[in-house]
Amino acid sequence: MGTLYIGRQGTGKTSSLARHLVEYMKTYPDRAIFVLDWSGSITDSILHLVLQEPREVREKIIRRLVYDEIGNPEWVVPLPEFSHLYGSSFEEQVQRLSSNLLKLAPELVKGAPFLAGLGLTEIAPQIFRVLTSMTNEYGETWQATEAKKLITDGALLRKALALYGHKVPQAKWFLEKVFLDLKPNERELRTYALLALLGAVETPETRARVGYYRPGWTPREAIRNGQMVLVNGARLINQKNTQHYLFTQVYSLIMQEINKRIPADPNDYPVSLVMDEVYSLLSIPGMAEEIGRISPQYRSRKLQLYIVLQSLSQLAEELRKQVWSIGNIVSFAVSNFDEAFELAQQIFPYNANTVKLPPKADSQQPVMEADRGQYLKIANDLQRMRHRECIIRRYISERILDKYVLWVKKTKDVSTNPTEITVQEFKETLLKERGVRVRDALQVVNQRNIESSKSPERPAL
Ligand SMILES: Nc1ncnc2c1ncn2[C@@H]1O[C@H](COP(=O)(O)OP(=O)(O)OP(=O)(O)O)[C@@H](O)[C@H]1O
Ligand SMILES: [Mg+2]
Repeated sequence: MGTLYIGRQGTGKTSSLARHLVEYMKTYPDRAIFVLDWSGSITDSILHLVLQEPREVREKIIRRLVYDEIGNPEWVVPLPEFSHLYGSSFEEQVQRLSSNLLKLAPELVKGAPFLAGLGLTEIAPQIFRVLTSMTNEYGETWQATEAKKLITDGALLRKALALYGHKVPQAKWFLEKVFLDLKPNERELRTYALLALLGAVETPETRARVGYYRPGWTPREAIRNGQMVLVNGARLINQKNTQHYLFTQVYSLIMQEINKRIPADPNDYPVSLVMDEVYSLLSIPGMAEEIGRISPQYRSRKLQLYIVLQSLSQLAEELRKQVWSIGNIVSFAVSNFDEAFELAQQIFPYNANTVKLPPKADSQQPVMEADRGQYLKIANDLQRMRHRECIIRRYISERILDKYVLWVKKTKDVSTNPTEITVQEFKETLLKERGVRVRDALQVVNQRNIESSKSPERPAL
């Protein structure tokens, strides 16, 4: 089952979830955990806890840790859109990227003319097919970072189609006969939205990440080896579009791997997907809708979601409607009364026997609490819980809901003892394990051209 953590700012959600995840990781050495971290705070909490462990335990955990810090100016963990290391076909990868762009479009390209949508559904996948056909002797392809060049430089596109088009005949046909045949201003109009979306990956750090040919980690490897992958987006807090793009990408790569599972296969280990206030995914309607669906649908594929929120209003409407089907609920103090009331109704069963006033005399009926009264009282209590106090509605198994709601008076203490190395130092070490220097990666990306793509010169890495 999935779990919703809800509670106003600073109530202790992230700290307690981090503790849970580290314990879970120690208990199940074979299970993978993906953590999508919007603000960097759950990453820090987890790494701090790992550093607190005795040496032997710590070393075991560290072997399973993958740290991916998006937007670090020095080091980049590459995550290209297309790679055979993902273990899916290029056609599947083309579809994945195209559908991500469609989901992001309404949020990222406000006021796009109607024709622009055609560019996303028709032109984008064909361009991506051509990119994936442009391989060198190592089987490395061109990347999304070159899409813009192909779209805007007709001569280059013609050349690419002449050299590689035979591998993707339908794309070749469409691009030569339809796309390149359009008048330049018409072409511009149709690719307007596509180019705007691709603009999200144009900062140097992002170009390095998406443009480099070899992924620093893959969901397939993480699931096979029971790794914990921490994706920290804190550095992108002021680059909303880039953050939306990159979190959507990571999410879709993980889902592509999960989608390969056959439902109810006993050989699959559960995989956890944690989203600590990942607004990029939770507030964009197209993404939210999908996330809302996955929690019940993907139970048989053993995907367990953790969603952390400060308030229900942070969810796009599509997800707002489905959020209660996620499974377990951990509620800290919530500030909004209406939300507290809704939570009360979701967490507690209606108790028809609640007595409000005892009868004054034996001959009188007691005054019964109407349902609204019962929930009003609970909602008030939910708003007034203390720091680190929470209640939990949990499933004991997929079918059995615990008949008790658990009350945690105060979440367990996280020690603040000094550690051998600081969390910051720890992050730097981990980042270098999977990372490439941004400038080396950029050199590879910038040198990619149609003449050298057959035998590229690359720095030794
Ligand atoms: N179990 C704990 N042990 C020690 N300190 C804690 C614990 N839980 C929370 N705290 C303290 O409370 C602060 C806020 O906790 P935390 O970051 O977990 O809250 P949050 O609900 O995730 O907040 P936000 O909504 O802002 O993300 C922490 O910085 C820490 O100082
Ligand atoms: Mg938090």
